[in-house]
Amino acid sequence: MLMTDIILQKRAGAPLSSDAIRFWIDGVVSGAIPDYQSAALLMAICWRGMDARETAELTMAMTHSGAVVDLSAIPGTKVDKHSTGGVGDTTTLIVAPVVASCGVPVAKMSGRGLGHTGGTLDKLESLSGVSVERSVDELIAMVNGGGIAVIGQTGDLVPADRALYALRDVTGTVESLPLIASSIMSKKIAAGSDAIVLDVKTGSGAFMKTPDEAFALAAQMVEIGRMVGRKTVAIVTDMNQPLGMKIGNQLEVQEAIEALDGRLSMDDPLIAVSRTLAVKMLILGGAAHDESEAARLFDESIASGAAKDKLRTLIDVLGGDGSIVDRPESLAQVKRLIPLPSPSDGTIAAMDALRIGASAQMLGAGRAQKTDTIDPAVGLVMGVRTGDTVTKGQTLVTLCVNDESRLDEALRCLEGAFDIRAAIGPIAPMVYGEVDENGIKRCDK
Ligand code: URA
Ligand code: CA
Repeated sequence: MLMTDIILQKRAGAPLSSDAIRFWIDGVVSGAIPDYQSAALLMAICWRGMDARETAELTMAMTHSGAVVDLSAIPGTKVDKHSTGGVGDTTTLIVAPVVASCGVPVAKMSGRGLGHTGGTLDKLESLSGVSVERSVDELIAMVNGGGIAVIGQTGDLVPADRALYALRDVTGTVESLPLIASSIMSKKIAAGSDAIVLDVKTGSGAFMKTPDEAFALAAQMVEIGRMVGRKTVAIVTDMNQPLGMKIGNQLEVQEAIEALDGRLSMDDPLIAVSRTLAVKMLILGGAAHDESEAARLFDESIASGAAKDKLRTLIDVLGGDGSIVDRPESLAQVKRLIPLPSPSDGTIAAMDALRIGASAQMLGAGRAQKTDTIDPAVGLVMGVRTGDTVTKGQTLVTLCVNDESRLDEALRCLEGAFDIRAAIGPIAPMVYGEVDENGIKRCDK
């Protein structure tokens, strides 16, 4: 087989055979296929697309490019959860303890944050003593002991994605639905869970800027799951403003603890999205028969303190001090708190979640490059949500700062992040709908 023929075929818009797809992915991992040929094929895929069969075969070729985790030593249905990335999205630290406290084993591999979105690993590691670089054997032992573990993706998983993602990043080929869908799903399938719940974000702070694009990506990932035998459900949720009110690593742990303490209202967006995700996971995990039973389990696990105890267990098992869940106020201590006042009276018509995330990153809450270090305590505390009325001088957001040399740049990121008007139109819903094997259900149309 010749790589040039494969490139020409896709350039002409023809579907690739499974042999051709495997030949390419094998060659990416072995190094037999040079980057320039892979880059040309990636660009052809961006323009010509891939059908459902090709996308599923690409996903499985990538999945098997490295180790595939075997979680069969953990009894029960293992349900994984993945978010396509958002600002102030600390749902994993809420949903994982809730689901585990209801008896569904949580054996999760998470990612680090890059750019304006935070990663669950960085949030966990912001707690002293916590170490997330663990082996699969340790993961299994932790889950069989306490019912919950969240660790970093081990280095031998999906090497093809690591190589291709780096290439896509520098060749303008990230934005392709089959490439994004196969990249995400190959990692989830290799991580060994039986079922997958996806949170596909849409809006100013997300990869997918419109709900239509987000539903299209969700549908492709659900279809991959169906074709390879992993039950997959996706919800599409709003990322036009930060999900939680706190952005930053310890700040988000603090907000997750507050949520598990029952201190947020049930219509709080962070709770609403967490509840929707947990409901899907509890049903897939066999802990509930239907949505109303699952929702009741979610509410009870918070009211009884069982979910908060699971977060304590998770922090302890990772080497940290789980008693932090009893004193969240001791987290996120910084040198200076700087409020950003509203320039005028009005209503918050919109926010730019990308700018807000970038500002937190600038303060040291996230990385611009993989090698950057994170300040666990810094970040932003939002004072308003979209739709709130504000008066001139009212605090829109408070910057939690340690390194003042970054302050000017962080404030510059926030310029134009709040659109304040005299009158506003309808506000986007938090949950736009869901996709499962029965198709797309939208609540926004
Ligand atoms: N996240 C991934 O893991 N892969 C993509 O291609 C895009 C987002
Ligand atoms: Ca709060």
